[in-house]
Amino acid sequence: MYRTHNNGQLRAVDINKEVTLAGWVQKTRDKGFMVWVDLRDRYGITQLIFDEERTSKEVIEKATKLGREFVIQVKGTVIERVSKNPNMPTGDIEILVSELNILNESLTPPFTIEDETDGGEDLRMKYRYLDIRRKPVRENLIFRSKVAMAVRNYLSKEGFIEVETPYLIKSTPEGARDFVVPSRMNAGQFYALPQSPQTFKQLLMVGGLDKYFQIVKCFRDEDLRADRQPEFTQIDCEMAFVEQEDILNAFEGLTKHLLKEINGIVPSNSGSKFPRMTYDEAMEKYGNDKPDIRFGMEFGELNAVAQNKDFGIFNQAELVVGIAVPGGNAFTRKEIDNLIDWLKRPQIDALGMVYVRCNEDGTYKSSVDKFYDQEDFAKWAEITGAKTGDLICVLSGAKNKARTQLSALRMHLAEQLGLRKNDEFAPLWVIDFPLLEWDEETNRYHAMHHPFTSPKPGQLELLATNPGEVKANAYDLVLNGNEIGGGSIRIHDKKTQALMFDYLGFTPEEAKAQFGFLMDAFQYGAPPHGGIAFGLDRLVAILGGQETIRDFIAFPKNNSGRDVMIDAPAPIDMKQLDELHLKVEIKK
Ligand code: AMO
Repeated sequence: MYRTHNNGQLRAVDINKEVTLAGWVQKTRDKGFMVWVDLRDRYGITQLIFDEERTSKEVIEKATKLGREFVIQVKGTVIERVSKNPNMPTGDIEILVSELNILNESLTPPFTIEDETDGGEDLRMKYRYLDIRRKPVRENLIFRSKVAMAVRNYLSKEGFIEVETPYLIKSTPEGARDFVVPSRMNAGQFYALPQSPQTFKQLLMVGGLDKYFQIVKCFRDEDLRADRQPEFTQIDCEMAFVEQEDILNAFEGLTKHLLKEINGIVPSNSGSKFPRMTYDEAMEKYGNDKPDIRFGMEFGELNAVAQNKDFGIFNQAELVVGIAVPGGNAFTRKEIDNLIDWLKRPQIDALGMVYVRCNEDGTYKSSVDKFYDQEDFAKWAEITGAKTGDLICVLSGAKNKARTQLSALRMHLAEQLGLRKNDEFAPLWVIDFPLLEWDEETNRYHAMHHPFTSPKPGQLELLATNPGEVKANAYDLVLNGNEIGGGSIRIHDKKTQALMFDYLGFTPEEAKAQFGFLMDAFQYGAPPHGGIAFGLDRLVAILGGQETIRDFIAFPKNNSGRDVMIDAPAPIDMKQLDELHLKVEIKK
């Protein structure tokens, strides 16, 4: 037996017990006549003591040679500590060691295995197995496991069946690029890794499974961000005989359950139901389809009160829009200049910012005093909801661009002012998304969600005349400014699906070649159905009070999509390429 107890387990009630422990050497302190070792495992740290008077010379000598991260096993007696450590669960006791076995030696680790490490991101990723020994990383993985288990328990209790769908499939257009896998047995042909199991879950509904879920890996070859990985995990769900309302209720149930079970909270903003907001409203009030509603700072549109004066920039703008920054009048001139510089960076690309200080005495002082009077500013304050002591920040320009820029400013300021509290959770359904989205690059409409999403009842006709106006039966679940889930009610008849492909620019032949299987299936009694998929990595990170999903993935990819530990992707040898019928010419 390697151990009788783990390193987080022993307490004062265990004093005098003979125990065997195993683990990693966190650190040693050698005072000559006494050696202390902190022994660590997943469960905690227990202090070992080797003492000249009570431990044999040979064992003490061995102990002095221990290095960090050696794997050892000790036998000994639990004794009361002379100087107790109230900050450690095992801080009342220590182990007086009588026997020491070195199970494996270790090189000196390239960074300290402590809560706060001296290792940079790259180094920690290269030695991720050492990083995982650190408590914060380990706790994140344990947390993830807890969330995944709670999801499984809840959904299976609600009658959902977990079904695995294939990873080697044909590409499904979900907006990103596919990762492809060459087929050895079918020369010149390729599988694609699923961007999501979308079509399969729909086929499971045609198959009559009624309620499906799967915790499933998805693969998307897109640029990385803090909340994006090329392979990530979805909680993928689908239900038959449902309308949008049924889906929202079912998955509001799951989200509430998780918030309660994992975080022990009932969200403050939701009463009995999560709030809902249309896409149009979200864009108007927050310039963003995933607004963080934990704090106000809602947009106020100022065209009516700021245009037709002498300020040319505003007069020419499609939209003049502002927010009130609580307490922002306290910003120094330098701080405001910094904000303006921040807005002018290429990432945001604003031309500038107009600001109005709302002074304590009720007067206003602005960067455009030349063009507006106090009465004008009072109107701006009313529209943006600014109070004395606030700062009104105003941007202008083309509607979408100005909204996006102000949204970025709103989030930046909220972060700076500490308004994004990580222990507060404000879920929100964003509904009534547009069905189509104009793509500047290809100069055509794309499905905003995916081509299987149904238009709102009665809107199909609008497709021919005003495609940009058509709303979809599509919804996103937003939590604290992050899109944690998205789904839709699907098209379930061949005619509408074919029409949809037609509008999206597929020829009937292309549609048949890519999605013939789905449209065929729709001819054999496809039930009305719909679903949703949550991003598990995002959900876990946010429930854990963070936003970087990499920290909740055991072996994540870096910003260039590489696994620096195993060094992938990597070239393969000629023989393998040959077998796959591939000739590769590398373009430099
Ligand atoms: P969608 O593309 O909106 O929908 O994806 C669902 C959720 O998955 C998460 N997500 C990601 N997480 C990490 N890294 C990524 N690269 C990444 N991409 C997406 C997000 C997102 O809300 N088949 C549809 C679902 C449906 O219609 O039922 C789909 O995949 O949290």
